[in-house]
Amino acid sequence: MKRPIVAIDGPAGSGKSTVAKLLAKRLQFTHIDTGALYRGVALLALRHQANLGDEAAVVQAASKAAFTFRQLPEGNLLHIDGENLGLAIRTEEVGAASSKVSAYPGVRALLLQLQRDLGAAGGVVLEGRDIGTVVFPQAEVKIYLTASIEARAERRSEELRARGQEVDLERVKSEMAQRDIQDSTRAIAPLKQAADAVLVDTSTMSIDSVLDRLESIVRNAN
Ligand code: DC
Repeated sequence: MKRPIVAIDGPAGSGKSTVAKLLAKRLQFTHIDTGALYRGVALLALRHQANLGDEAAVVQAASKAAFTFRQLPEGNLLHIDGENLGLAIRTEEVGAASSKVSAYPGVRALLLQLQRDLGAAGGVVLEGRDIGTVVFPQAEVKIYLTASIEARAERRSEELRARGQEVDLERVKSEMAQRDIQDSTRAIAPLKQAADAVLVDTSTMSIDSVLDRLESIVRNAN
């Protein structure tokens, strides 16, 4: 089998992260979670107490940092200046901040080349919001994962509960709807399905059946 670039885009809670990670494992490809990079920028901005409404201050907080991924038993985790931030970036606070900072052209420019470098060699599953549309419009395989807001909020709540956080489902749902609007209406690289992406609605699918479907899409593309 060839080692293509596999682009998986979709909203939060569509199953992207779980499925991208497991698909990469099945195919023995590298898994790159590009949302982690935006979360990393947000975390740096919060740590520097930068005003999140000030694009220049946010870019400044992140511009000198070295972003790398390291394959550990738990996954291919983001490190910034050598520090493992795989867990620190997973809070709702960082998630909300990342949605805000990801709308800034300066932040997107900062991360664009890095993502292209990370995927250039192929044999990679990249997940995000604009991989098939902006980062790798020439990707050999493009998948757009989606699910109903109810299914997505339910999954996110489960994830947070599993991490010991207290969860209010209605609140998760409304924050998610808010992020959907922010992510899909921003001026540059909004969340949208690429014209040539295969749409997969995971609302009522098990993880295994999504994986089987995606694996067959990748294998048939060869
Ligand atoms: O997938 P996630 O929730 O970890 O992503 C965090 C934020 O980063 C999300 O609000 C949208 C943004 N993002 C983006 O703009 N482009 C990407 N390729 C990936 C994520």
